[in-house]
Amino acid sequence: MEGSTSAIFLEYKVKNDVNVIGLKKALLKVYEKNSDQILILMSFSKKGFAVLGANAPEGLQDFKTLNGINNLSMPTSQSDIFIWAHSFSKSVMFDFQESAKEILNEFLTLDLEQEGFRYHDSRDLTGFVDGSANPKGDKRMEEVLVPIGENNGNGSFVITQKWVHDLASFHSHKVEEQEKIIGRTKVDSIELEGDAMPKDSHVSSVDLKVDGEAMKIYRRSFPFANAEEKGLFFLGFAKNLQRFDVQLESMLGLSDDGISDRIMDFSIPKTGGYYFAPSVKELLKHL
Ligand code: HEM
Ligand code: MG
Repeated sequence: MEGSTSAIFLEYKVKNDVNVIGLKKALLKVYEKNSDQILILMSFSKKGFAVLGANAPEGLQDFKTLNGINNLSMPTSQSDIFIWAHSFSKSVMFDFQESAKEILNEFLTLDLEQEGFRYHDSRDLTGFVDGSANPKGDKRMEEVLVPIGENNGNGSFVITQKWVHDLASFHSHKVEEQEKIIGRTKVDSIELEGDAMPKDSHVSSVDLKVDGEAMKIYRRSFPFANAEEKGLFFLGFAKNLQRFDVQLESMLGLSDDGISDRIMDFSIPKTGGYYFAPSVKELLKHL
Protein backbone atom coordinates (compact mmCIF):
# COMPACT_ATOMS: atom_id res chain seq x y z
CA MET A 1 0.00 0.00 0.00
CA GLU A 2 2.63 2.54 -1.05
CA GLY A 3 1.08 5.92 -1.42
CA SER A 4 -1.42 5.29 1.35
CA THR A 5 -2.81 8.63 2.47
CA SER A 6 -3.46 8.16 6.16
CA ALA A 7 -1.44 6.55 8.94
CA ILE A 8 -1.53 6.01 12.66
CA PHE A 9 1.44 5.24 14.88
CA LEU A 10 1.05 3.77 18.37
CA GLU A 11 3.91 3.18 20.81
CA TYR A 12 3.14 1.25 23.96
CA LYS A 13 4.78 0.02 27.14
CA VAL A 14 3.64 -3.25 28.67
CA LYS A 15 1.96 -2.80 32.06
CA ASN A 16 3.58 -4.42 35.09
CA ASP A 17 2.34 -7.92 35.93
CA VAL A 18 0.51 -8.10 32.64
CA ASN A 19 -1.66 -11.11 31.83
CA VAL A 20 0.46 -12.39 28.94
CA ILE A 21 -2.21 -14.66 27.47
CA GLY A 22 -4.68 -11.80 27.53
CA LEU A 23 -2.13 -9.47 25.92
CA LYS A 24 -1.40 -11.94 23.10
CA LYS A 25 -5.12 -12.36 22.40
CA ALA A 26 -5.58 -8.61 22.35
CA LEU A 27 -2.65 -8.09 19.95
CA LEU A 28 -3.99 -10.82 17.68
CA LYS A 29 -7.42 -9.21 17.69
CA VAL A 30 -5.88 -5.90 16.62
CA TYR A 31 -3.64 -7.57 14.03
CA GLU A 32 -6.62 -9.33 12.48
CA LYS A 33 -8.01 -5.96 11.46
CA ASN A 34 -5.58 -6.23 8.51
CA SER A 35 -7.71 -6.15 5.36
CA ASP A 36 -7.94 -4.88 1.79
CA GLN A 37 -8.43 -1.46 3.29
CA ILE A 38 -5.86 -1.34 6.04
CA LEU A 39 -2.34 -2.67 6.57
CA ILE A 40 -1.00 -3.24 10.06
CA LEU A 41 2.58 -3.78 11.13
CA MET A 42 3.48 -4.93 14.64
CA SER A 43 6.97 -4.65 16.04
CA PHE A 44 8.64 -5.20 19.39
CA SER A 45 11.63 -4.06 21.41
CA LYS A 46 13.88 -6.50 23.28
CA LYS A 47 11.58 -6.18 26.27
CA GLY A 48 8.54 -6.66 24.02
CA PHE A 49 9.90 -9.98 22.76
CA ALA A 50 10.74 -11.05 26.31
CA VAL A 51 7.18 -10.37 27.44
CA LEU A 52 5.87 -12.56 24.61
CA GLY A 53 8.28 -15.30 25.73
CA ALA A 54 10.08 -15.08 22.37
CA ASN A 55 13.82 -14.76 21.66
CA ALA A 56 14.69 -11.24 20.58
CA PRO A 57 16.39 -11.09 17.16
CA GLU A 58 20.16 -11.00 17.28
CA GLY A 59 21.43 -7.43 17.21
CA LEU A 60 18.22 -5.82 18.46
CA GLN A 61 19.07 -3.04 20.95
CA ASP A 62 17.11 -0.24 22.54
CA PHE A 63 17.48 3.20 21.01
CA LYS A 64 19.98 5.13 23.10
CA THR A 65 20.07 8.91 23.34
CA LEU A 66 22.73 10.23 20.98
CA ASN A 67 24.60 13.47 21.60
CA GLY A 68 26.30 15.08 18.62
CA ILE A 69 28.46 18.11 17.94
CA ASN A 70 27.15 21.64 18.61
CA ASN A 71 24.65 20.43 21.25
CA LEU A 72 22.73 18.38 18.71
CA SER A 73 20.85 15.53 20.30
CA MET A 74 18.53 12.64 19.47
CA PRO A 75 16.59 11.46 22.52
CA THR A 76 15.37 7.96 23.19
CA SER A 77 11.75 7.30 24.14
CA GLN A 78 12.04 3.54 23.71
CA SER A 79 8.71 1.74 24.11
CA ASP A 80 8.01 -2.01 24.09
CA ILE A 81 5.56 -2.34 21.18
CA PHE A 82 5.21 -0.20 18.06
CA ILE A 83 2.18 -0.52 15.78
CA TRP A 84 1.87 1.15 12.37
CA ALA A 85 -1.40 1.09 10.46
CA HIS A 86 -2.08 2.84 7.17
CA SER A 87 -4.77 3.04 4.53
CA PHE A 88 -6.33 5.25 1.88
CA SER A 89 -9.12 6.34 4.18
CA LYS A 90 -9.00 8.61 7.19
CA SER A 91 -12.33 7.15 8.32
CA VAL A 92 -10.92 3.61 8.30
CA MET A 93 -7.91 4.85 10.27
CA PHE A 94 -10.07 6.56 12.85
CA ASP A 95 -12.09 3.39 13.44
CA PHE A 96 -8.88 1.37 13.77
CA GLN A 97 -7.31 3.85 16.16
CA GLU A 98 -10.30 3.87 18.49
CA SER A 99 -10.86 0.12 18.54
CA ALA A 100 -7.13 -0.79 18.84
CA LYS A 101 -6.74 1.48 21.84
CA GLU A 102 -9.83 0.05 23.49
CA ILE A 103 -8.63 -3.54 22.97
CA LEU A 104 -5.07 -2.88 24.18
CA ASN A 105 -5.80 -0.48 27.05
CA GLU A 106 -6.09 -3.15 29.70
CA PHE A 107 -2.57 -4.47 29.02
CA LEU A 108 -0.55 -1.56 27.68
CA THR A 109 0.25 2.07 28.46
CA LEU A 110 0.19 4.43 25.51
CA ASP A 111 3.49 6.39 25.18
CA LEU A 112 2.81 7.91 21.78
CA GLU A 113 -0.18 8.25 19.50
CA GLN A 114 0.51 10.03 16.24
CA GLU A 115 -1.51 10.49 13.09
CA GLY A 116 0.18 11.06 9.75
CA PHE A 117 -1.02 12.01 6.30
CA ARG A 118 0.28 11.95 2.76
CA TYR A 119 1.15 15.50 1.71
CA HIS A 120 0.73 16.11 -2.04
CA ASP A 121 2.88 13.65 -4.03
CA SER A 122 4.52 12.15 -0.91
CA ARG A 123 6.29 15.31 0.16
CA ASP A 124 7.59 16.28 3.55
CA LEU A 125 6.03 19.51 4.89
CA THR A 126 9.14 21.36 3.71
CA GLY A 127 7.78 20.71 0.22
CA PHE A 128 10.49 18.18 -0.76
CA VAL A 129 9.58 14.72 -2.06
CA ASP A 130 10.39 12.16 0.63
CA GLY A 131 11.25 8.64 -0.46
CA SER A 132 12.86 9.25 -3.88
CA ALA A 133 16.02 7.25 -3.12
CA ASN A 134 14.18 4.35 -1.53
CA PRO A 135 15.30 0.95 -2.85
CA LYS A 136 12.76 -0.37 -5.34
CA GLY A 137 11.37 -3.74 -6.42
CA ASP A 138 13.23 -6.90 -5.36
CA LYS A 139 16.13 -4.76 -4.19
CA ARG A 140 13.90 -3.30 -1.51
CA MET A 141 13.23 -6.64 0.16
CA GLU A 142 16.94 -7.48 -0.05
CA GLU A 143 17.91 -4.33 1.84
CA VAL A 144 15.15 -4.50 4.38
CA LEU A 145 14.53 -8.12 5.30
CA VAL A 146 16.74 -10.40 7.35
CA PRO A 147 17.59 -13.18 4.85
CA ILE A 148 15.37 -16.29 4.89
CA GLY A 149 17.16 -19.15 6.60
CA GLU A 150 18.63 -16.91 9.30
CA ASN A 151 16.94 -16.57 12.66
CA ASN A 152 14.00 -14.21 12.30
CA GLY A 153 14.33 -14.34 8.52
CA ASN A 154 11.87 -12.18 6.56
CA GLY A 155 11.56 -9.77 9.46
CA SER A 156 12.88 -6.22 9.55
CA PHE A 157 14.49 -3.81 11.99
CA VAL A 158 12.48 -0.63 12.50
CA ILE A 159 13.35 2.91 13.54
CA THR A 160 10.83 5.52 14.65
CA GLN A 161 11.55 9.18 15.38
CA LYS A 162 9.08 12.00 15.71
CA TRP A 163 10.69 15.11 14.21
CA VAL A 164 9.25 18.58 14.81
CA HIS A 165 9.99 21.25 12.19
CA ASP A 166 10.44 24.98 12.42
CA LEU A 167 8.85 25.52 9.02
CA ALA A 168 9.08 29.32 9.18
CA SER A 169 12.83 29.00 9.60
CA PHE A 170 13.13 26.56 6.69
CA HIS A 171 10.97 28.65 4.42
CA SER A 172 12.90 31.81 5.29
CA HIS A 173 15.56 30.41 2.93
CA LYS A 174 15.27 30.85 -0.82
CA VAL A 175 14.42 27.65 -2.71
CA GLU A 176 17.99 27.36 -4.00
CA GLU A 177 19.28 27.35 -0.43
CA GLN A 178 16.59 24.86 0.67
CA GLU A 179 17.82 22.56 -2.10
CA LYS A 180 21.34 22.78 -0.68
CA ILE A 181 20.02 21.80 2.75
CA ILE A 182 18.27 18.71 1.38
CA GLY A 183 20.64 17.81 -1.49
CA ARG A 184 17.90 17.50 -4.12
CA THR A 185 15.91 19.89 -6.27
CA LYS A 186 12.54 20.89 -4.87
CA VAL A 187 10.11 20.47 -7.75
CA ASP A 188 11.43 17.29 -9.42
CA SER A 189 13.57 15.82 -6.62
CA ILE A 190 16.72 15.49 -8.72
CA GLU A 191 19.86 14.79 -6.71
CA LEU A 192 22.47 17.59 -6.78
CA GLU A 193 25.68 16.46 -8.42
CA GLY A 194 29.39 17.05 -7.98
CA ASP A 195 30.34 20.45 -6.57
CA ALA A 196 26.67 21.43 -6.41
CA MET A 197 26.11 18.89 -3.60
CA PRO A 198 27.12 20.38 -0.23
CA LYS A 199 28.87 18.09 2.29
CA ASP A 200 26.42 19.11 5.01
CA SER A 201 23.26 18.42 2.98
CA HIS A 202 20.84 15.81 4.28
CA VAL A 203 21.55 13.45 1.37
CA SER A 204 25.34 13.77 1.88
CA SER A 205 24.83 12.94 5.55
CA VAL A 206 22.85 9.74 5.04
CA ASP A 207 23.93 8.34 1.65
CA LEU A 208 26.76 6.27 3.13
CA LYS A 209 28.89 3.22 2.55
CA VAL A 210 30.65 1.11 5.15
CA ASP A 211 33.42 -1.15 3.82
CA GLY A 212 31.99 -0.70 0.34
CA GLU A 213 28.46 -1.68 1.37
CA ALA A 214 25.73 0.92 0.80
CA MET A 215 23.80 1.55 4.01
CA LYS A 216 20.39 1.42 2.31
CA ILE A 217 17.18 1.72 4.28
CA TYR A 218 13.53 1.89 3.22
CA ARG A 219 11.69 4.95 4.52
CA ARG A 220 7.92 5.20 5.04
CA SER A 221 7.71 8.44 6.99
CA PHE A 222 4.49 10.47 7.24
CA PRO A 223 4.06 14.21 7.85
CA PHE A 224 1.82 15.38 10.67
CA ALA A 225 0.36 18.77 11.52
CA ASN A 226 -1.77 20.12 14.33
CA ALA A 227 -2.16 23.39 16.18
CA GLU A 228 0.89 22.75 18.36
CA GLU A 229 3.34 20.95 16.08
CA LYS A 230 4.23 20.26 12.48
CA GLY A 231 6.76 17.68 11.47
CA LEU A 232 7.61 14.24 10.20
CA PHE A 233 7.01 10.90 11.84
CA PHE A 234 10.17 9.23 10.56
CA LEU A 235 9.73 5.49 9.95
CA GLY A 236 12.51 3.37 8.47
CA PHE A 237 13.22 -0.31 7.81
CA ALA A 238 16.52 -2.17 7.34
CA LYS A 239 18.07 -5.62 7.65
CA ASN A 240 20.18 -4.52 10.63
CA LEU A 241 20.42 -1.66 13.13
CA GLN A 242 23.90 -0.65 12.00
CA ARG A 243 22.44 1.14 8.99
CA PHE A 244 20.32 3.42 11.17
CA ASP A 245 23.15 3.95 13.69
CA VAL A 246 25.61 4.98 10.99
CA GLN A 247 23.17 7.46 9.44
CA LEU A 248 22.14 9.01 12.74
CA GLU A 249 25.76 9.40 13.87
CA SER A 250 26.62 11.07 10.57
CA MET A 251 23.68 13.46 10.90
CA LEU A 252 24.97 14.40 14.35
CA GLY A 253 28.51 15.05 13.07
CA LEU A 254 29.91 12.02 14.91
CA SER A 255 31.40 10.28 11.87
CA ASP A 256 34.93 10.85 10.55
CA ASP A 257 34.13 13.96 8.52
CA GLY A 258 32.75 15.68 11.64
CA ILE A 259 30.05 17.35 9.57
CA SER A 260 26.49 17.49 10.89
CA ASP A 261 23.32 17.53 8.79
CA ARG A 262 21.86 20.98 8.05
CA ILE A 263 18.39 19.50 8.32
CA MET A 264 18.91 19.65 12.08
CA ASP A 265 19.09 23.45 11.96
CA PHE A 266 15.32 23.53 11.53
CA SER A 267 14.03 20.16 12.69
CA ILE A 268 14.64 18.23 15.89
CA PRO A 269 13.72 14.70 16.93
CA LYS A 270 11.52 14.45 20.04
CA THR A 271 11.34 10.66 20.30
CA GLY A 272 13.36 7.64 19.21
CA GLY A 273 12.80 3.89 19.22
CA TYR A 274 14.24 0.70 17.74
CA TYR A 275 12.02 -2.33 17.13
CA PHE A 276 11.91 -5.51 15.11
CA ALA A 277 8.93 -6.47 12.98
CA PRO A 278 8.78 -10.26 12.61
CA SER A 279 7.44 -11.87 9.45
CA VAL A 280 3.70 -12.59 9.54
CA LYS A 281 4.42 -16.27 10.10
CA GLU A 282 6.70 -15.58 13.10
CA LEU A 283 4.35 -12.97 14.53
CA LEU A 284 1.42 -15.37 14.50
CA LYS A 285 3.59 -17.94 16.30
CA HIS A 286 4.34 -15.42 19.04
CA LEU A 287 0.71 -14.33 19.52
C1 HEM B 1 16.53 11.28 1.86
C2 HEM B 1 13.68 14.33 4.35
C3 HEM B 1 15.24 12.37 8.50
C4 HEM B 1 17.54 8.95 5.97
C5 HEM B 1 15.67 12.31 2.18
C6 HEM B 1 15.12 13.26 1.23
C7 HEM B 1 14.31 14.09 1.94
C8 HEM B 1 14.37 13.70 3.32
C9 HEM B 1 13.48 15.25 1.39
C10 HEM B 1 15.43 13.31 -0.26
C11 HEM B 1 14.49 12.50 -1.08
C12 HEM B 1 14.60 11.02 -0.85
O1 HEM B 1 15.53 10.35 -1.33
O2 HEM B 1 13.73 10.53 -0.14
C13 HEM B 1 13.88 14.07 5.69
C14 HEM B 1 13.34 14.87 6.76
C15 HEM B 1 13.78 14.32 7.93
C16 HEM B 1 14.60 13.18 7.59
C17 HEM B 1 12.44 16.08 6.57
C18 HEM B 1 13.54 14.75 9.34
C19 HEM B 1 13.27 15.99 9.68
C20 HEM B 1 15.99 11.27 8.19
C21 HEM B 1 16.62 10.39 9.13
C22 HEM B 1 17.28 9.43 8.41
C23 HEM B 1 17.06 9.72 7.01
C24 HEM B 1 16.51 10.51 10.65
C25 HEM B 1 18.11 8.26 8.88
C26 HEM B 1 17.89 7.59 10.00
C27 HEM B 1 17.45 9.29 4.64
C28 HEM B 1 18.06 8.51 3.56
C29 HEM B 1 17.80 9.19 2.38
C30 HEM B 1 17.01 10.35 2.76
C31 HEM B 1 18.82 7.19 3.72
C32 HEM B 1 18.24 8.77 0.97
C33 HEM B 1 19.65 9.22 0.72
C34 HEM B 1 20.14 8.79 -0.63
O3 HEM B 1 20.59 7.64 -0.75
O4 HEM B 1 20.05 9.57 -1.57
N1 HEM B 1 15.20 12.61 3.44
N2 HEM B 1 14.64 13.06 6.22
N3 HEM B 1 16.29 10.84 6.91
N4 HEM B 1 16.84 10.38 4.12
FE1 HEM B 1 15.79 11.73 5.17
MG1 MG C 1 28.15 13.69 8.48
